[in-house]
Amino acid sequence: MTNINTNTQQDKRASGNIFLVGMMGAGKTTVGKMLARQLGKTFIDSDEEIQKRTGVKIAHIFDVEGEEGFRQRESAVIQDLIKLDNIVLATGGGVVLKPENRDALKRNGIVVYLKSGVNDLWQRTRNDHNRPLLQTANPRAKLQELFEQRDSLYADVADSIVHTGKQSVQILIARLIKKLNSPEQSLPSSHNMQTLNVGLAERSYQIHIGQNLISQPELLLKHIPHKRVTIVTNTTVAPLYLEKLTNTLAGNGIQVQAIVLPDGEQYKNSASLNTVFDALLSNRCERTTPLIALGGGVIGDLTGFAAATYLRGVPFIQIPTTLLAQVDSSVGGKTGINHPLGKNMIGAFYQPQVVIADVATLNTLSDKELRAGIAEVIKYGLIRDLPFLEWLELNIEKLLQRDAQALQYAIVRSCQNKAEVVGVDERESGERALLNLGHTFGHAIENAMGYGVWLHGEAVAAGTIMAADLSRRLGWLTEQDVARTKKLFQAAGLPISGPQLDTEKYLQLMGLDKKVADGKIRFILLKGLGQGIITDEVPAELLKQTLESCSA
Ligand code: NAD
Ligand code: GLY
Repeated sequence: MTNINTNTQQDKRASGNIFLVGMMGAGKTTVGKMLARQLGKTFIDSDEEIQKRTGVKIAHIFDVEGEEGFRQRESAVIQDLIKLDNIVLATGGGVVLKPENRDALKRNGIVVYLKSGVNDLWQRTRNDHNRPLLQTANPRAKLQELFEQRDSLYADVADSIVHTGKQSVQILIARLIKKLNSPEQSLPSSHNMQTLNVGLAERSYQIHIGQNLISQPELLLKHIPHKRVTIVTNTTVAPLYLEKLTNTLAGNGIQVQAIVLPDGEQYKNSASLNTVFDALLSNRCERTTPLIALGGGVIGDLTGFAAATYLRGVPFIQIPTTLLAQVDSSVGGKTGINHPLGKNMIGAFYQPQVVIADVATLNTLSDKELRAGIAEVIKYGLIRDLPFLEWLELNIEKLLQRDAQALQYAIVRSCQNKAEVVGVDERESGERALLNLGHTFGHAIENAMGYGVWLHGEAVAAGTIMAADLSRRLGWLTEQDVARTKKLFQAAGLPISGPQLDTEKYLQLMGLDKKVADGKIRFILLKGLGQGIITDEVPAELLKQTLESCSA
């Protein structure tokens, strides 16, 4: 149900603020934090703000000043917070009791009522002794009374009512974002772009994710201080997007040079790298001239390495145009080229200045490449984000249909996961290795079949099923977990078994020939769905059983 005050709707949206109202236990803080993260807004909890200002717990204020004393403090805080822009505010349950608060909230942001039934509220609050209003002889009855008193006030103030029920927070947030983006209630267009931060101290940078970002000069201009830039792309992407990007830049007085390489993994090599260096040197590009990678992971990795090494390092901008590049390779600073003796063997960690993921570019991607990217998306769910895995199970068809919102959500969520991992382990001394789930098996498949026969994402999909099977043999996953994983990859149109190779061949390609089969190699496995683990304790016999049963 929606009720919109059309007179003030435009102004209140312009602030970019979202105010969450509802009963205690409705989930305003949990939902608010995640919502803020996903929309690139700042989260504030009004109760916490009051505690910060007074230096004491809410319960203490109730004890000393009574409920009215607390309400006055709450109103003062609300009047301050509504002056901010681009916040998600979780309000206290009683905020709607004062008309001036209702008025302030209505006028200064989109108000969302998170509505739960009294039974659910009771389940969530019954063991929480920090709720002053529930410290009575019959707290269940008190909750019922408060609900009856406040429900219509929440509804009155709300632009949108979201029923929380028993669904996962992720699903609730997906629904909420959908509602906020519906034509009736959509936030201003700039808010459709989502921005994440990769926190790496002085090497921190932003990832912008949204529609038609290639045409938005303001995202790029601040990274091109000297009005010159070089774009590196390939023969497939250039006819699609080079002119558009060049026009965006040239229209703002930037001098653009383009280097167009042949398309393919086989060109991610030293010859292409030299082509880039030749062009940069003949054009006298300077230390301040940024390199922009416009393309998939091949162009991103190679251009990043060129940027890391040309003149000992020039600024680097990633404009990824495949799903795989938007959710994985453009973020985290792994750059490099292949060597005849091994993939990605020559490279450097070199972080970009900014990543601009234009979701609209995925419309021209082949179905096969889209599916390969989905394999890396599923990876995040499996190693560290069970709610996201659940979301993927429900929304895989939308991704395959290229539903713009679903794609954007999946990219944002993947990049959040990657940014968090990279933020704590930039150089892969620990947790970052989890991002290689399925890769030990997958690389063996790619290698055995010849690069390009199986796409990287396809090989990772089959490799992930092998990792899941091995995890089950170790007692870490159930049969149902493995079946669920297979079902998701299958629904995404990805392979769930590797090619039929001799087991010894697999072992050899995984660096595990007969002599070292009992030696130590690092596996990324699953100790439950949503929980990756790095281990070198894998009995050779179980590994062989997995290889035999997972190749068809
Ligand atoms: P890719 O770069 O080869 O792109 C796949 C194909 O799609 C290519 O033919 C490309 O020209 C085409 N293409 C790109 N954008 C398009 C668009 N918008 N419309 C139509 N066609 C488009 O492959 P990829 O899957 O993007 O990346 C794979 C590479 O990424 C591998 O070299 C892999 O090693 C690397 N990688 C790197 C990291 C990292 O952390 N640096 C992570 C994963 C993968
Ligand atoms: N794609 C794996 C990593 O970035 O570490």
